Amino acid sequence: MIEVKKKELIGEGSTIKFEYQKEGVTQSGFVVFFEGQYHAYLNQCRHMLIELDYKPNEFMDDQRQWIVCSTHGAIYHPKSGECISGPCRGESLQKLNVTESNDVLWIEIN
Ligand code: FES
Repeated sequence: MIEVKKKELIGEGSTIKFEYQKEGVTQSGFVVFFEGQYHAYLNQCRHMLIELDYKPNEFMDDQRQWIVCSTHGAIYHPKSGECISGPCRGESLQKLNVTESNDVLWIEIN
């Protein structure tokens, strides 16, 4: 489980990146606050094994409405993780379970 403080996510479309170890390899994920809810995903584009953020923690477009892969521009819906445009259209980011507890979010790592 990864712990994220809610206060680190300020405003619609804000994100926070986190890293963790899996089988000796550093992996990352992120949480996005969107339409009043928290959603967490693995930080991995669905068309190549590339992290979505070229600049750390820059996951969203300028309007903070869409998750964007900075390498080839795939666009994902923040709520469902579905790719709606780009080379991975129709696929979805891998969602991670989020549990809220007071001012903390717990992210379940598979
Ligand atoms: S690696 Fe993200 S669209 Fe290609």
